[in-house]
Amino acid sequence: MNKTPWYMSAYFYQIYPRSFMDGNGDGYGDFIGITQKLDYLKSLGIDCIWIQPIYPSPMADDGYDISDFENVDPRFGTLDEFKQLIDAVHEHGMKIIMDLVLNHCSDQHPWFQAARKDRNSKYRDYFVWSDTDQKYLETRIIFTDTQKSNWTWDEVAGQYFWHRFYPQQPDLNYDNPEVREKMKNVMRNWMKLGIDGFRADAVPYLFERDGMNNENLPETHNYLKECRKLMDEEFPGSILLCEANMWPKEVRPYFADGDEFQLGFHFPLMPRIFMSLGKQNASSLVKILKDTPEIPQDCQWCTFLRNHDELTLEMVTEEDRQWMWSFYAPDPEMRKNLGIRRRLWPLLDNDPKKVALAYSMMLTMPGSPVFYYGDEIGMGDDIRLYDRNGVRTLMQWDDTKNGGFSPADKTCMPVIDDPVYGYKKINVAAQEKDPESHLNMIRSLMLTRKASDALCRGKFEWLVTDDENVPVLAYIRESEYDKVWVIQNMTDSDQDFIMDLPEGKYYDLNHPDYEISGGTGITVKLAPRAFYWLRKK
Ligand code: GLC
Repeated sequence: MNKTPWYMSAYFYQIYPRSFMDGNGDGYGDFIGITQKLDYLKSLGIDCIWIQPIYPSPMADDGYDISDFENVDPRFGTLDEFKQLIDAVHEHGMKIIMDLVLNHCSDQHPWFQAARKDRNSKYRDYFVWSDTDQKYLETRIIFTDTQKSNWTWDEVAGQYFWHRFYPQQPDLNYDNPEVREKMKNVMRNWMKLGIDGFRADAVPYLFERDGMNNENLPETHNYLKECRKLMDEEFPGSILLCEANMWPKEVRPYFADGDEFQLGFHFPLMPRIFMSLGKQNASSLVKILKDTPEIPQDCQWCTFLRNHDELTLEMVTEEDRQWMWSFYAPDPEMRKNLGIRRRLWPLLDNDPKKVALAYSMMLTMPGSPVFYYGDEIGMGDDIRLYDRNGVRTLMQWDDTKNGGFSPADKTCMPVIDDPVYGYKKINVAAQEKDPESHLNMIRSLMLTRKASDALCRGKFEWLVTDDENVPVLAYIRESEYDKVWVIQNMTDSDQDFIMDLPEGKYYDLNHPDYEISGGTGITVKLAPRAFYWLRKK
């Protein structure tokens, strides 16, 4: 019998290490702090932690600008403490993956420092240089708010260097075999320490070619396949999760024949969850799912509601982008690049019904969900903070100083302290005690989904017939042992949903005392924003 790999129906939890928990009292989140909170993550049913960059970094892009690929930033602790965290995660029966940033390093990395100073240094060719900034002009700019070009002039080098993100993040030159090999060794070293795999950052951009848009090039796929081969051969059972903010048809090749990535984020689905809730019509979501190609067996999509970046609107039409901005980011300060720098709860009006519905959608659609720290308790954002920092504030553990994050007088990030989302009101400790809290509501949905074989790994079948008008989003999930009918009211009004249900009595997994009888053309009555996950008794 074919055993389903663990990651096919796993819960991932994204930790931004600076803000999660300060274990040594210096005001900066660290490994000791995360280790202290593993029981909490276990209680949410988390299978795998994704820890964001922990490498030494000048923090021009919050750790995604790496100045040493082989070490941890001392602000997070020591390598020994990281090892202890890995071991503790495993003792809790969970797994841990970390960010692997292949595309670029920091301009402070010794490779770049050597490269810029000496044209004859072997490190010069570790980067992509040009005498003109008129090369590769077909390549789009990603950080549209701040960057005018993917080239920056370097005085010391006397040439332009190529970068897809901030100028403090020069792209590595993957045409150089030594770079390719060095980055494989980076993977090996961290795997040897005991982690379970990587979330591979910004993978579409590794190679550049004249006349191309320089995304998803065949050369890039070939290298990524080599990386997967290395992982399979030397670290069997490890996983690679792909960050490619692309259309489903473009992400599909990252799964290749099951020999590139096991997991890939489904970027276009995420804004359409918000669009469906805002427009009270899930049409765009139905269309994108229908447009999502099949992927190889033992490969899986990762679904998510929010993450540490702006809510990206790169994968929607111009018209939908304008709609999303006007609806969800009326204040221009809320916008960032082609996206929205706000957290889940403020986006959904701090309305538990809307948030529960958003989770219902994520938890019942195919994919392994990735949860962003703090969303489970209803944390807010602070749009006054620079760049994307507003969604990276301190985790709110309790109502003591700094939300229980740290006893220090000065912390690396501010804590939210407003009357609605502030730590005195919104925190883990208070919500643990309250059966009606956001935390208990979301945890309950998470645990219910986890107990359903159909919701975790079942086949997917539409109950929606009209793609344009979808006030009720409905589908079936079915596995060998389990079948669940999911019916969700996107709207603020009562809805009657007419459907065929085989004869018998049904209950709602989330409210077992709800009962409905099957039959042909029966009417399911849904209150505003209500949802049912129905199973036969
Ligand atoms: C990814 C990260 C983002 C970072 C960028 C450059 O998109 O999610 O936070 O800025 O890569 O490394």
